[in-house]
Amino acid sequence: MIDFSVIILAAGSGTRMNSDIPKQYLLLGHKPVINYSLDTLSKYSSDIIVTLPDLEQTVSLPQKPQIRYVKGGISREDSIQNAISAGIKHKYVLVHDSARPFVTKDILQKICDSLETVESAYPVMPVVNSIVIDASNSLHSTPQRSQFREIQTPQGFHTEWLQRAMLAPEQTHAHIPERIRLLGGRVAHVEGSPWLFKITYKPSIYAAHAHIDEYLRAEPEPSSTCNCEV
Ligand code: CTP
Ligand code: MG
Repeated sequence: MIDFSVIILAAGSGTRMNSDIPKQYLLLGHKPVINYSLDTLSKYSSDIIVTLPDLEQTVSLPQKPQIRYVKGGISREDSIQNAISAGIKHKYVLVHDSARPFVTKDILQKICDSLETVESAYPVMPVVNSIVIDASNSLHSTPQRSQFREIQTPQGFHTEWLQRAMLAPEQTHAHIPERIRLLGGRVAHVEGSPWLFKITYKPSIYAAHAHIDEYLRAEPEPSSTCNCEV
């Protein structure tokens, strides 16, 4: 697989989880949630930038030559901007939510393959529940569920296009790949995975516990030395 840069977003406060510490620091088996994507991505990338709420937290996180820690911003987008400002080293960059611990080589490969022909590629899944539009507290329309997709991460970009999209005047609610599309870039969906779910509310941390062993069999933890090209 081609080498790529990664932005791991971990500067949120996890309000929906309603726990004492942000959800990315909750213990999932023998290590915190954030360490799962950090460990896996450090097997495949030589340039990782992690956004944190507070740089004091870095003492308990892996210290490797290819990992840089930066302070995040108020919004998720501000955190992405702070990571970009730290300097992206490679032609491709993947933006990943630390709250999705179970990232695999398979999805990284699919995204990198797509980036050979498009400027942004990201995983999507069909929507599980029925959907209504909630306008002024009246549920007045039931769109067909089959026309919607849920967006997952990691989201892949040509670095120069991510930078352009972040400079573009913000379209209301447009997520970054959509901004790239509006700027004339090509965007592709790849098939996501139910295991790429985002830890959000309490039940999802219990679901994550049930998947630890299977995940670590598929993605063993890296040795302390970096086996990627630095
Ligand atoms: N994130 C970030 N900087 C922010 C907000 C979010 O880096 N200012 C990160 C989170 O740490 C998370 C990912 O973006 O890994 C996805 O965001 P979300 O699931 O919304 O996490 P939180 O904002 O922490 O949770 P909540 O919305 O419930 O407060
Ligand atoms: Mg949030």
